[in-house]
Amino acid sequence: MAEAQIIDGKAFAAGLRERVTAAVAALKADHGKTPGLAVVLVGEDPASQVYVRSKGKQTVEAGMESFEFKMDTSTDQETLLAKVRQLNEDPTVNGILVQLPLPKQIDEQAVLTEINPDKDVDGFHVVNVGRLNTGNPSALVPCTPLGCVLLLRDHFKGSLAGKKAIVLGRSNIVGKPMTTLLVQESCTVTVAHSRTVDLPAEVAQADIVIAAVGKPEMVQGSWLKPGAVVIDVGINRIDKPDGGTRLVGDVDFASASPVASAITPVPGGVGPMTIACLLRNTVTAFCRQNGYPEPDM
Ligand code: GUN
Repeated sequence: MAEAQIIDGKAFAAGLRERVTAAVAALKADHGKTPGLAVVLVGEDPASQVYVRSKGKQTVEAGMESFEFKMDTSTDQETLLAKVRQLNEDPTVNGILVQLPLPKQIDEQAVLTEINPDKDVDGFHVVNVGRLNTGNPSALVPCTPLGCVLLLRDHFKGSLAGKKAIVLGRSNIVGKPMTTLLVQESCTVTVAHSRTVDLPAEVAQADIVIAAVGKPEMVQGSWLKPGAVVIDVGINRIDKPDGGTRLVGDVDFASASPVASAITPVPGGVGPMTIACLLRNTVTAFCRQNGYPEPDM
């Protein structure tokens, strides 16, 4: 069988960053103001350190202000809440992101709900979850699912209406908001998770498969409906026989590619879209806070 078309998230993200950069330059020229993003990292988680560094670098490259706050692993909840309140009050900060996961002495929900919802560029605050679920246009939308929808709209040249989609995973960061977004796109959506009884049978129904379970190469090509479009959100580092490591998704690319009509690779698929969407959300938040029209990005 022929191989699937590659959905090039890396290229799409580069284009999105260019549009964001142009929007930032135009906002500066028109209003003399620069959007600012604050990222808070608590602790030393190596993957989180890599993400936070990339976020800071790409924020600056887009012409925006980047504020980075590194806090000790032993930071207590009240100290972190005080930092969030300070950023809420800071007019140069338009977006606030607290990197997850947080150390176990800190209540994640308590921190997320302290963030001013209008600066919540992650879209994790209950107010933004509520806005998204009620179709309120003031919602800030979680970056990774937003990136997946932008890739799907581009792939399908606009409309996803009537497609059968399955979302594998029910996390607050990806699965649940992804489900909401696909319903808004008028897909018929199934949510599968660790207690789903016959996962291959569920996947076999789907025109669109979103895999966000964090299990390396779990989804097999034999499960897919021929011609399905596969969005692989997984980023898993696995050991190679020679002692090195490599990144793989939640989908077994080798068996999926001959069955799918299109598929995102790992790396180079959904991954680069997340930070590009974070930059987009920061510009969106900045415009809303200032009452400026939102640029096309
Ligand atoms: N950890 C993993 N993904 C994310 C994300 O999108 N935002 C934040 N804040 N933390 C994360």
